[in-house]
Amino acid sequence: MNQVRLMKPYISFDEVEADFRGVFESGMFTRGQHVEAFRKELASFTGARHVHLATSATTALWVCLKLLEVGPGDEVVVSDFSFPATANVVEDLGATPVFADVSRETYNMLPETLEPLLTPRTKAVIFVDALGNPSGVHAISDLCRRRGIPLIEDAACAIGSAEAGQRCGAIADLTCLSFHPRKLLSTGEGGAITTDNDEWARWLDVKLAHGARGMKGPGLDFVDYGYNFRLPELQAVMGRKQLAKLDGIVDERSRIRDRYRERLEPMGFQAQGVGPGVRYNVQSLVFSVPDGQSRNDLIAALKERGIESTLGTYALSATTYYTRRYGVSNPNASWLEANTITLPCYEGVDVHLVCEAIGSCLAAG
Ligand SMILES: Cc1ncc(COP(=O)(O)O)c(C=O)c1O
Repeated sequence: MNQVRLMKPYISFDEVEADFRGVFESGMFTRGQHVEAFRKELASFTGARHVHLATSATTALWVCLKLLEVGPGDEVVVSDFSFPATANVVEDLGATPVFADVSRETYNMLPETLEPLLTPRTKAVIFVDALGNPSGVHAISDLCRRRGIPLIEDAACAIGSAEAGQRCGAIADLTCLSFHPRKLLSTGEGGAITTDNDEWARWLDVKLAHGARGMKGPGLDFVDYGYNFRLPELQAVMGRKQLAKLDGIVDERSRIRDRYRERLEPMGFQAQGVGPGVRYNVQSLVFSVPDGQSRNDLIAALKERGIESTLGTYALSATTYYTRRYGVSNPNASWLEANTITLPCYEGVDVHLVCEAIGSCLAAG
């Protein structure tokens, strides 16, 4: 059993007990007051005009692609350093994911890696806030706007982050959030779509309600066919509690990041870079390892010392499936997958203990 975990939840049972009891007593386990309140609070927090809740960021991304009518023959450019869900939703709809390489500093797609990949078949771009870092999203948004291509921000990791004073959720045409337990705001599973586009919001209102709009006699009026990806009421309670304290969580994680940097940069580690005017939520605290150091050996050596760590994230084009399917390779994404490490980051983590252990692993070779 690891003694130092990678992440700890920012929510306790005590915080939700009274509201959970209220939900049980009312019997309103879905479409209740907490779901509605969570939607409104997310809109006000992010600055987005419309919020639609979903069961995960994966379903949120998939729905956004359906909204944009992405299908066979289309291409969608995706950041190559991400979790496979980003590309899987494109693949699932019969379109082609086109993998854009990323910056070795911020780990994000750049205008110069995106622009050469745009073709008349490009139906959308999915920019990923890698590990919660939105650095450069405005530059990509400007480019997409100039080219008339819708931009989806995969902000699965980025709730609470911002660039140029705009929070993730209020920057791209469509933004998808995740509430998975590795995220700062966790509802177990869960997600959301944000947009300022009224027409798209109306489409989402209908499609995410089984295709119903209003009533027809005593029943619903099914004006379209649709889906059910609803976030249940108990999950909304959990989300609301964490959203209320999210800014404090982001500030604290930023201070933890500074303390790690002070200790690790002199040893040759380099922190994920953050651009000017960026508020970074530090969803995952990621460093590249010193030159010549095997990242895998370091993870194994830390594990022996009771400290949990993991890789940064994945080069999507280099997964077994996408390599076999498309045979594309991006040097920076592949380098980052091989050379970055995620370290424990949460309230009360013993930074000194982890850094001492890293120092001793390095010294032991
Ligand atoms: C960048 C990115 N996109 C999408 C997802 C999928 O999120 P979910 O687990 O909510 O479906 C993840 C999950 O880690 C992610 O990191």
